[in-house]
Amino acid sequence: EKNTITVFKGDGIGPEITDAVLKILDAAGAGLEYEIFRVGAAEYEENGALIPEAGFASFEKNRVLLKSPITTPLGTGFRSLNVMLRKKYDLYANMRPARSNSAVKTPFENVDIVMFRENTEDLYAGVETQVDQDTAHSIKIITRKCSERIIRAAFGYAQKNGRKKVTCVHKANIMKISDGLFRDIFYEVSKEYPQVQAEDKIVDNVAMQLVMQPQKFDVIVTENLYGDILSDLTSGLIGGLGLLPSSNMGEDFAMFEAVHGSAPDIAGKGIANPTAFLWSACMMLEHLGKQETAVKIRRAVDEVLRQGTALTPDLGGTAGTKEYTEEIIRQL
Ligand code: NAI
Ligand code: MG
Repeated sequence: EKNTITVFKGDGIGPEITDAVLKILDAAGAGLEYEIFRVGAAEYEENGALIPEAGFASFEKNRVLLKSPITTPLGTGFRSLNVMLRKKYDLYANMRPARSNSAVKTPFENVDIVMFRENTEDLYAGVETQVDQDTAHSIKIITRKCSERIIRAAFGYAQKNGRKKVTCVHKANIMKISDGLFRDIFYEVSKEYPQVQAEDKIVDNVAMQLVMQPQKFDVIVTENLYGDILSDLTSGLIGGLGLLPSSNMGEDFAMFEAVHGSAPDIAGKGIANPTAFLWSACMMLEHLGKQETAVKIRRAVDEVLRQGTALTPDLGGTAGTKEYTEEIIRQL
């Protein structure tokens, strides 16, 4: 079956990894039609909008978006496009699976942590005010509605996939009311899933334990800010940001992207690792019911990682994005 998806080609390494991933999807016979849009700073300079209207319309029609990273300029005036997309389309469940790959050598073995990050509120709600020249406020927002749905997403995933435990990560010892609410709702919702063990831990302790004993973690559910930070940490456990995919799911729309950003330090050099984005595309294929194609691509990637002759520099190799991509296509 042919599916049409929307593709946002961002900036930095965005275009390089997008080209690589679309080539691999085609080589795997994914049966996809693409509506491709340039987004980000270059688009803004030429046409006055970071995302063209037609791009939004395409996503609203297709309901599935494969999005490459976009640079978020620092300072005021620019709101992060990523934060905006997640809010606009209510993509509340950000799932970030960090699994060790036996072919990628790291100091940590057998890591298999699936993190669910709340994607629409917390300190990322964008409620910030300059009180006076020397004082700024940023409001942390935690609601029952948003907490319940992300916690249900985590338990639902755990139950469906035979996972044993969900850990709620918070700082309710200090933010007793907001994080306390999140934690209370966690235990309420956990009662609907008696087969899955429920526990809670404080975020700073979790940062330490993730490094000391990552194997103790199974599924994690947490608020927006903690999830942002801790998921970059979990990427470090499995070999870096080049290997961590994600899905951003709402009731009506789904967006798939790598966890990493636009990597301006290596942009244009042809050495970006497209794997995180490719695995995000595999999550998209599963969402579209194309499990077989996803499995086929994952196998080809595993084989190329195992051979180790065409790895990108972030994984200790000397190959470029093109060579790595061609090697995956050869495996397919
Ligand atoms: P980053 O994730 O772009 O890069 C961090 C480090 O990891 C860099 O050294 C980079 O070279 C390396 N890296 C990242 N992805 C890689 C890949 N695929 N292959 C090899 N190496 C890779 O984070 P940074 O530099 O803090 O952010 C750059 C820009 O990206 C910022 O404007 C930020 O706001 C934006 N960003 C966008 C995201 C998105 O579009 N979803 C997510 C995170 C950041
Ligand atoms: Mg991040």
